[in-house]
Amino acid sequence: MRPPSTPLDFPMAPEGSSRSRGQALDPQAFLEELQRELLRSLARLGEQSRAAIPESATVTDLLSSALRDEIEIAEIAAQWLTDEPDLDLRLGLARQVGDEARHFEMMCDRVRELGSDPTSDPRTRAHSAIFRYLRGLQTPAERLAAGLAREGVARLRNALLAEVCTARGDDRTAQLCLEGVGEDEVRHLDFCRRELLRYALTTEDQEAARRAMARTLQLAEEASDPSRAAKAPPAPPPEPTAAGR
Ligand SMILES: [Fe+2]
Repeated sequence: MRPPSTPLDFPMAPEGSSRSRGQALDPQAFLEELQRELLRSLARLGEQSRAAIPESATVTDLLSSALRDEIEIAEIAAQWLTDEPDLDLRLGLARQVGDEARHFEMMCDRVRELGSDPTSDPRTRAHSAIFRYLRGLQTPAERLAAGLAREGVARLRNALLAEVCTARGDDRTAQLCLEGVGEDEVRHLDFCRRELLRYALTTEDQEAARRAMARTLQLAEEASDPSRAAKAPPAPPPEPTAAGR
């Protein structure tokens, strides 16, 4: 476990650090770069995901498949918080665990209201590739960058789900996706952005954050269209670095 740390302000970066060598971006500029890349990827993923929704899929089918994402995001946040010495990060992750558990329960309740059973219990299936990748991330910068991507993907998925529900006249489920769940996701995105400004300071952390975001988005694309896994270029190194710990 890394010791508790207070990230240095840039003016205090010692001689010889990556910042003093002029290699790291200003944190705000770095965050803006990440967000531009995220928006580009989400636009592509949105088109792909919309096209992949089968005409025959019911609202309960779509809600049931979202349940797995909700429980996995809770599980990842829970794993990350256990070895996180920074109290702000730990509490932020703890809040996210509670939020995701609530999303899971709200979606289960809605499936039941619609007359179905949330029978696709996500615990009976193997964890997804995204889950296995995220679980291995070690440093705050890469966890936060991956978290930003993961929450962005979740928000996109819920917006698409709301779109389908509205088109089918199910305003109640659309409202659940946009307000009950979506408002929490906005807070989770804000949390990742705010904390990245404290942790993506060095060249090493910024590179690790870029790789973590790119790999998370690549896995999200592969999940929405499995044929892309075969076409995808070689993935970045799957092993997270120990930098920042
Ligand atoms: Fe969620």
